[in-house]
Amino acid sequence: MSPFAVTRTLPEDATGAALRADVLEGLSGSPRTLPPKWFYDAHGSELFERITTLPEYYPTRAEREILLARSGEIAAASGARTLVELGSGSSEKTRYLIDALTGLRTYVPVDVSESALTRAGQALVAERPGLDVHALIADFTAPLTLPGTPGPRLVAFLGGTIGNLLPAERAAFLASVRGLLAPGDALLLGTDLVKDERVLVRAYDDAAGVTAAFNKNVLTVINRELGADFDPAAFDHVALWDAGQEWIEMRLRSRLAQTVKVPALDLAVDFAAGEELRTEVSAKFRKEGVRAELEAAGLEPARWWTDDAGRFALSLSVVR
Ligand code: AVJ
Repeated sequence: MSPFAVTRTLPEDATGAALRADVLEGLSGSPRTLPPKWFYDAHGSELFERITTLPEYYPTRAEREILLARSGEIAAASGARTLVELGSGSSEKTRYLIDALTGLRTYVPVDVSESALTRAGQALVAERPGLDVHALIADFTAPLTLPGTPGPRLVAFLGGTIGNLLPAERAAFLASVRGLLAPGDALLLGTDLVKDERVLVRAYDDAAGVTAAFNKNVLTVINRELGADFDPAAFDHVALWDAGQEWIEMRLRSRLAQTVKVPALDLAVDFAAGEELRTEVSAKFRKEGVRAELEAAGLEPARWWTDDAGRFALSLSVVR
């Protein structure tokens, strides 16, 4: 059998149906919102990869620093034979973990992007003889069934992506992850930390404008998939820190009064001049808050590591 298998757990049109439902709900409401998962078509995924190399965008480097320093400890604490990675994308940082997990038999990357899964999966099986890669095309915020590979399992959710979920969504997500775990299994969670507002805002409003292009790409996705007529140039990129919620918000601000048509939804959306559309929240965390959220989901954080500058954290919860 080939050491690389792909399972699609989404029906062919699940993505289209979910996009239509999200856009209808988000553009009908007030304030207008769109969920951040729709940034990541092939072009958006490329823009995100560029963001991770920007001087202002520290989270990827900070998390890589922790993984490089701590993968041995993580591997020793988990002893995983199966590594599941939620929202695996390019699987680039995961290589440190894969290298450190000496008993690892199977890597299960889970992502909605089939192109990213196939590219990363094929590279991995070529590099690591003996490692099975069982990729899952799935939306990790929906209920997930894992292949019946041997435990212990380590589920990794890296990059701070949990911060893109709203608090109630995070609680539901962590509870569902807990439901996937058996005694001896573990969750490795990456969380970006609260820090100086200027550092945070710069990370989401870079000088080269890559994040602005990434933000506006969601309009291009809706134009292509739903026949809409958004003009990306008619919106400005906005990144702001909400000190009460302790999250960064990305928004698109309409430069003028305009009406946008979304034919697939039979929808016309009026934007006032200056009206803002929220496209992402990226929550930043404190150690006590992460612990409280994990405990509320029935998980117990056993280890906590940060990079030297204290910008980003990885926590490891082992199920007893
Ligand atoms: C998907 C969590 C890694 O919220 O920082 C980057 C996405 N948005 N720049 C984040 C993102 C704007 C990112 N993560």
